[in-house]
Amino acid sequence: TWTPDNFVDMTVASLKEQLGNDKVVLALSGGVDSSVAAMLLHRAIGKNLHCIFVNNGLLRKNEFERVLERYEGMELNITGVDASARFLNALAGVDDPEQKRKIIGRTFIEVFDDEAHKIKDVKWLGQGTIYPDVIESISVNGPSATIKSHHNVGGLPDFMKLKVVEPLRMLFKDEVRRVGASMDMDAGLLGRHPFPGPGLAIRILGDITPEKVRILQEVDDIFINGLKSWGLYNKVWQAGAILLPVNSVGVMGDERTYEKCVALRAVESTDGMTADWVNLPYDFLQKTSNDIINKVKGVNRVVYDISSKPPATIEWE
Ligand code: XMP
Repeated sequence: TWTPDNFVDMTVASLKEQLGNDKVVLALSGGVDSSVAAMLLHRAIGKNLHCIFVNNGLLRKNEFERVLERYEGMELNITGVDASARFLNALAGVDDPEQKRKIIGRTFIEVFDDEAHKIKDVKWLGQGTIYPDVIESISVNGPSATIKSHHNVGGLPDFMKLKVVEPLRMLFKDEVRRVGASMDMDAGLLGRHPFPGPGLAIRILGDITPEKVRILQEVDDIFINGLKSWGLYNKVWQAGAILLPVNSVGVMGDERTYEKCVALRAVESTDGMTADWVNLPYDFLQKTSNDIINKVKGVNRVVYDISSKPPATIEWE
C-alpha cells in the first residue's frame, strides 16, 4: 500500500541511483510542491541540489525574506535573487492580463537561466510538477513540455536543455502534502493557500506601478493576517485582495477624498476548478475594512466579492 513514508524511502533511493554525483538546479516558488520536491532531492543528493528563489516584486508583503529564511532553516543550498526591478520594468504600462502573464513567464526564464549558468556542470533541472500539471501540460504543450503553460515561451533557454527530474509527477496535491508532513515540513508552509505564479500582477487590474504593488501588499497583509488571527485561514481554500482601477469619493475629517477601491476575495474549493465565495463573519469583514481604510494610505473603500466560479473566476484577471 501507498504510504508517505514508503514513498519517501523509495523515491530517495531511486533519486540517488538516477542522479549519482550529478548536480541539479531547481526553482523554488515558496509553495508546497516545489518545496517538497526540493526536500526529496536534498535528502537524496544533499549539496548537489542548487535551489533558486526569485523575487519577481509581485509577492506578498515580506514574503521573499520570510520564505528565504524558512528554506535556509531547511538547510537547502539556496540562492535568493531579487529581480523585482527587472520584472516591474518589463511590466510597465502593460494592462492586458495575458500579456502580463507572458512577460512574467519570459522574465522568469531569463532570470533563472542567468542564475543556472553560474552553477558549474549542472546536469539536471528539478521540478515540482505534480500529476495534474502533467495532464495539463500534455494537453496544452504536448508530452515533452517541462514547464507549466503559463511559463511556456518560444525558443529554448539553455537550462531547458537539461535533463528533467520530477519526483512528484505521480502524486496528487493531497499526497504531496502528506509526503511533506512525513518529512516534517513546516506546518505554515504545508498549509499555505495557493498563490498564482504571476502573483499580485493579476490582482492589480490595469497597469502595474511600484506604488500600486505597495498598496496591494499592505491591504493583502491586513486581510491575510486577520484571517489567521480570527482562526479563519484554514477554513478558506484561497484568499487575497484585488486593487481595482477605480477611484471613488470618500470623506476624511472635513476633506473630500478621491481614492482607490479594493476588493477582498475568499473562496472554498477543492481543486480551483469550481469555487464558492466564503460566508465570512460580518464582524470580521467590518474590522478588516476599518483596518484597511485607516492604515493603508490611498484606499478609501473596501468591497467583498460574492461571486462563485463559474461563472466568475477566482482571480479577476
Ligand atoms: P481562476 O482565476 O482561473 O484560478 O479561477 C484558478 C486557480 O489558478 C490560479 N491561477 C494561476 N496560477 N498562474 C498560476 O500559477 C496563473 O497564471 C494563474 N491564473 C490563475 C488561481 O490563483 C487559482 O488558484
